[in-house]
Amino acid sequence: MIKHCKNTKKATKYCIFVSVMNKYLLNIISNSCVAKDVFRMELTGEIPALKCGSFVEIAVEGCYLRRPISVCASCEGHLTLVYKIVGEGTRKMSELSYGQKVDLIGGLGNGFSLSPLPAHPLLIGGGIGTAPLLQLATDLRAAGSTPLLLAGFNSASDIFLEKEFTDLCAQVIFTTLDGSRGIQGMVTEVLSSLHFDYFYACGPMPMLKAVSTAIPHPGQLSLEERMGCGFGICMGCSIQTAGGPKRICKEGPVFRKEELLW
Ligand SMILES: Cc1cc2nc3c(=O)[nH]c(=O)nc-3n(C[C@H](O)[C@H](O)[C@H](O)COP(=O)(O)OP(=O)(O)OC[C@H]3O[C@@H](n4cnc5c(N)ncnc54)[C@H](O)[C@@H]3O)c2cc1C
Ligand code: FES
Repeated sequence: MIKHCKNTKKATKYCIFVSVMNKYLLNIISNSCVAKDVFRMELTGEIPALKCGSFVEIAVEGCYLRRPISVCASCEGHLTLVYKIVGEGTRKMSELSYGQKVDLIGGLGNGFSLSPLPAHPLLIGGGIGTAPLLQLATDLRAAGSTPLLLAGFNSASDIFLEKEFTDLCAQVIFTTLDGSRGIQGMVTEVLSSLHFDYFYACGPMPMLKAVSTAIPHPGQLSLEERMGCGFGICMGCSIQTAGGPKRICKEGPVFRKEELLW
């Protein structure tokens, strides 16, 4: 039955922790395809508003380990997740439909900090990493700061949440590798033409490294790593930072730029 965890003691500890964590059983209102291989799942039930940049761990039938998915949008009683099909777990998630229930734990991780509130924030998303920036954009607007969004995709058919970001951001700029939408190339090619004093980024590691190196301003970056437990007990997601080893699932996934050693 236990496919991923070789150590039985660790597996038992994992099960005990899961049973005492913030667990929710939510109802699916909708689960629809919003871009190529990308699904948007709307959930309702007894759940508090979850912090922007935090994530939930979803139980998927037939998979031992839960799947970490970021909070895309959240308010009390409602949660939106946007996820891309990349393997067995996310494929099974995409097959769920209205009326079915989802078992999840969260919000996990430390999320984005809005303090101090930047005057001109730039949100930088790479592919599916753009999803958690929606709640961040909402929170920045509510706090009185209007962000710009710069989001990079492979192709126009990969773009999602365009209307939602357009409603919240002063400007939305897309880059695509194949040039089918927006500016052809990567997000780094556009940075020097934008006016901002702080950045928040989420996406693949090479993109995070590139923007962190290219941008002189301070910022926060949300990292992604394969996870075991997802809440701090297995140490499987540890990275070395300027302040010593830290767990992406617990002290992260969001880190300040100066903490990261590339
Ligand atoms: C903090 C965090 C937030 C994330 N938020 C989102 C999101 O909002 N939307 C989204 O589409 N994806 C997100 N991901 C990535 C998502 O967790 C993986 O794509 C997903 O777990 C893949 O599961 P799978 O069974 O389909 O793939 P498989 O490759 O079959 O998974 C096998 C195992 O590897 C793990 N795994 C595989 N890829 C990743 C990955 N990139 N990161 C972490 N674990 C992985 C799986 O959880 C599973 O335990 C996030 C990852 C992290 C760590
Ligand atoms: S995934 Fe287990 S400590 Fe982070």
